[in-house]
Amino acid sequence: MRDLRISVTDRCNFRCTYCMPFDEYTWIERQQVLSFEEIERVVRLFLRFGIQKVRLTGGEPLVRKDLHRLIARLSAIDGLGDLSLTTNGALLAGQAADLHAAGLRRINVSIDSLRPDRFTALTKRGDLDQVLAGMFAAKQVGMDPIKLNAVIIRGTNDDEIIDLVEFGRKNGFEMRFIEYMDVGNANAWSLEKTVTKREILDVVHSRFPVREVGRANGSAPAVDYEFLDGAGEIGIIGSVTEPFCSSCTRVRVTADGKLVTCLFAESGFDLKALIRSGASDAEVHAEIARIWSTRSDRYSDVRWQQVLSGGYQPRDHKKIEMITLGG
Ligand SMILES: C[S@@+](CC[C@H](N)C(=O)[O-])C[C@H]1O[C@@H](n2cnc3c(N)ncnc32)[C@H](O)[C@@H]1O
Ligand code: SF4
Repeated sequence: MRDLRISVTDRCNFRCTYCMPFDEYTWIERQQVLSFEEIERVVRLFLRFGIQKVRLTGGEPLVRKDLHRLIARLSAIDGLGDLSLTTNGALLAGQAADLHAAGLRRINVSIDSLRPDRFTALTKRGDLDQVLAGMFAAKQVGMDPIKLNAVIIRGTNDDEIIDLVEFGRKNGFEMRFIEYMDVGNANAWSLEKTVTKREILDVVHSRFPVREVGRANGSAPAVDYEFLDGAGEIGIIGSVTEPFCSSCTRVRVTADGKLVTCLFAESGFDLKALIRSGASDAEVHAEIARIWSTRSDRYSDVRWQQVLSGGYQPRDHKKIEMITLGG
């Protein structure tokens, strides 16, 4: 266990077609969402297992009121090496200074298209200019690195790979391409829409030659590549066609306090119920240890084997929605 991802809310101001396209959805009731105090306690408990990195995500984390107060609490914890946040960027321009002042240094902003109309079509509610303003505001206040996440979908935005790389190189942002995954059940994923890590790499390499650097710490989801001309790096996450279950060290906590050991899990363990029942730190610690030590998740490995043999049916698996789980 090395990385902890905490979803601070399942709510979102976008409706990305590949994540949560539904206008109506049954959101987690507010009293079921972990408070900042509870999140801080959870983080402190996980640190005892050797967690080195904590990433806040969602839903859209910046719609959670006063998120900078949570950042301030977490960044004050001794022994937390790395605190980061993944956001759609829509509210970032107004919050970047507060987040930075509270101790946030690293941020990932999702941007799947640089064409305003396409961006709005993909996110259903997003405005490209707001997101661009958000990432430049983060740069201005000194956040570093700023990584840009793009999900590449065949027939939708696969003609923008080079534009996105050029944008990143020009502005000092690091692009991370993500294979379109069958997370949750709300999207209309099919294998044909997944542009493979190999295809993405070939496109990038044909215009900007790169050399493989490997996975950060040996267990990061992205394989990194550096440009031969020295203009930085990109990362590609190939969780569909190059699964990395065997080196996965990530544990996740949903906004309502469910401990989930795999991005494709069907359910989680109710950590919040345990915490709210008055359990001691030792009791919660023992329960986390039990769950982690009996973990046997290898969903992406199994899926890829089934895909290769022609027997994978996404609809057979009732996975937790990405918007609840956090990416
Ligand atoms: C679930 S979002 C949560 C944080 C924030 N709302 C955002 O969009 O950055 C985290 C990441 O998951 C990615 N994501 C969502 N659905 C995906 C899918 N079906 N396949 C691959 N990546 C996906 C998003 O693009 C985003 O980079
Ligand atoms: S959680 Fe992120 S990826 Fe999902 S709909 Fe919201 S902005 Fe899009």
